[in-house]
Amino acid sequence: MKVVEALNLEKTYPDGTRALRGVNLSVERGEFVGVMGPSGSGKSTLLHLLGGLDKPTKGKIILFGREIQNLPEDELAKFRRQRVAYIFQFYYLLEDFTVLENLTVVGEIAGVKEPKAKALELLKFLRLTHRINHKPHQLSGGEQQRVAIGRALITNPKLILADEPTGNLDSAEGERIFRLFHELNKKGITFIVATHNENLVPFFSRVLRIRDGKLIEPP
Ligand SMILES: Nc1ncnc2c1ncn2[C@@H]1O[C@H](COP(=O)(O)OP(=O)(O)OP(=O)(O)O)[C@@H](O)[C@H]1O
Ligand SMILES: [Mg+2]
Repeated sequence: MKVVEALNLEKTYPDGTRALRGVNLSVERGEFVGVMGPSGSGKSTLLHLLGGLDKPTKGKIILFGREIQNLPEDELAKFRRQRVAYIFQFYYLLEDFTVLENLTVVGEIAGVKEPKAKALELLKFLRLTHRINHKPHQLSGGEQQRVAIGRALITNPKLILADEPTGNLDSAEGERIFRLFHELNKKGITFIVATHNENLVPFFSRVLRIRDGKLIEPP
């Protein structure tokens, strides 16, 4: 089963920057795909488009069998909610909420059963139990990153789009997170992970290389 497909995807930002220049890809259920390329090559732009967080200038995106590029915003949000979770490169945590609330709010919106128990369990794994009543600005970068990961996991998504999810973690913590991702992947969750960390290559079932807004075909 195809989880997401991109057909001739182009993205030109309002200032004229051509961030994606004709990307074609197809990801099957159960894959653990790495999107790798230098800074500015279009990784974040591609992940945003695949998850329906931004619209392409041209081309099609088929997410869980549904063409999404023309869907109205509210319908798209609803369609995404139970299926896709996004781990942002720059977290976007709710600043006025505690760590625990950052997870439970998202869990409640997504209709998760017992969101608080689930949140506490995730935060324990993420080694944040001692920080659950803190606000994001009181946390280190790596701690905020782990909250963002917890927030993505609480909705039981079928697809996780992760943008440099371990960029702010030391290598031991990063490895722990990737091992968790692997366990989730074995249970059928599909991952697409953007990174420029070549040490993560062994974790991926397939690596897509991107340069200047285009995927490079493997030799
Ligand atoms: N909102 C925006 N407006 C204009 N240009 C943008 C915008 N967002 C990104 N870009 C440009 O689009 C190109 C691709 O950016 P993108 O953020 O997708 O790269 P990236 O591969 O994720 O880089 P990094 O590894 O640094 O996160 C870059 O040239 C960037 O400057
Ligand atoms: Mg990026």
